[in-house]
Amino acid sequence: MTALNNGEGPVTTGCATMTSRRRDGLSGTVIMPGDKSISHRALILGALAVGETRISGLLESEDVEKTAVALREFGVKVNKRDEHEWSVFGVGVGGLAEPPRVIDCGNSGTSARLLMGLMASTDIAATFCGDDSLMSRPMARVLEPLSQIGARWLGRRDKKLPLTLAGTAFPVPINYQTPVPSAQVKSAILLAGLNAPGETIVIEQARTRDHTERMLKAFGADIVVEDCENGCQVILKGQTELTPCEIVIPGDPSSAAFPICAALIVPDSDVMVPTVGMNPSRAALFSILQEMGAQLTVENRRNAGGEPVADLRARFSPNLRGIEVSADVAASMIDEYPILAVTAAFAAGETKMLGVAELRVKESDRIDAMAKALRANGVAVAEGSDWWSVVGMGTSGVPGGSACESKCDHRIAMSCLVLGMAAQNPVTVDDCSPIATSFPRFQSVMNQMGAAIREAQ
Ligand code: S3P
Repeated sequence: MTALNNGEGPVTTGCATMTSRRRDGLSGTVIMPGDKSISHRALILGALAVGETRISGLLESEDVEKTAVALREFGVKVNKRDEHEWSVFGVGVGGLAEPPRVIDCGNSGTSARLLMGLMASTDIAATFCGDDSLMSRPMARVLEPLSQIGARWLGRRDKKLPLTLAGTAFPVPINYQTPVPSAQVKSAILLAGLNAPGETIVIEQARTRDHTERMLKAFGADIVVEDCENGCQVILKGQTELTPCEIVIPGDPSSAAFPICAALIVPDSDVMVPTVGMNPSRAALFSILQEMGAQLTVENRRNAGGEPVADLRARFSPNLRGIEVSADVAASMIDEYPILAVTAAFAAGETKMLGVAELRVKESDRIDAMAKALRANGVAVAEGSDWWSVVGMGTSGVPGGSACESKCDHRIAMSCLVLGMAAQNPVTVDDCSPIATSFPRFQSVMNQMGAAIREAQ
């Protein structure tokens, strides 16, 4: 793994309670870890190509490790070659072996849903489990289309993990309109479709992240993405061979959101974050922040390994104002709402976020978790089933001073620590261990720019 893509400094592990206190003047250049979504997909598609796929900049975190370990159970060789590169020796489409052990996906919804899709069209069975958070998340959204393809499953009545999926030797290509905006569902169907004869079609009303489609193209799959009457459709021709690739993984925009938002709300800050993924299906947060009056510049736009990237510069923004964030952008910034809510607390006026029902079924119910954390620290929050709003208190009006619960959710833990970086009084987060799922060096990267995040005494 390159230091470039994973940041520097020690990794946060264990059930650490941490306290974050205000320190003005964040500065410097901070390097982001590799993109989590792209890292999972690089390993998974590498597993289906015949021959060696090399990956540089892979995110080395607990979630991605779950996918790597699972793929080994499916008979795929996944190795770290050196500091910079991983290699995957793929077994070919339809070539997966039946895993001898239970597939433990930990906290990772992406591992669980994509791996189910991966094996659904092969004549093998596998049992999937996860941690408390993952076992409470909906799996019906993937079981439904995978059943249509011909897979069978056995599990609890609530269709949640743990469950056993039996793939089919005779997969049927389906034409499926996704009922929820989910890249994981879309990707599960496309991965299953790779081993089905004919055309598998997935239609999405709202476009979700398209890393699977981009990467399938890079691996030589016959795939077309086009607008259609009901939104956007992806047409994939199955039973074609994938060609191994060299993949370069850009910095994760969802991780970059934390130092960037911290710099916007901490007085006298000026921070550079180079080589951040700017895929339009992921980067809406940055335009929303600009609309709120953020001093955020996007420099040196370029392409890296099939994905657009740029260098971002964030400076303290004393004139942030609350806005209405429309449902149209929800899919392209779905993981960024917790940190947007923290940023909105330091703006003038109310920020209303619409069309975000999906936030209730992430690693935690993110609206509930953030509403509790913000209210405990003196910020007014209102919420409905698919919307929420935060009443901004201006640059130095957030009292802070309370404890927050991370609820097994990395993004809640990191957002609350950023809250403490700018509030009048320190904020404590009960369990920061989930941060290791996506951004293991979060604490040292933030402290390197001048933050004061420490284990609580
Ligand atoms: C992801 C898709 C999103 C996102 C998650 C990663 C992916 O989930 O929230 O963190 O890699 O495909 P949904 O598919 O549930 O929207």
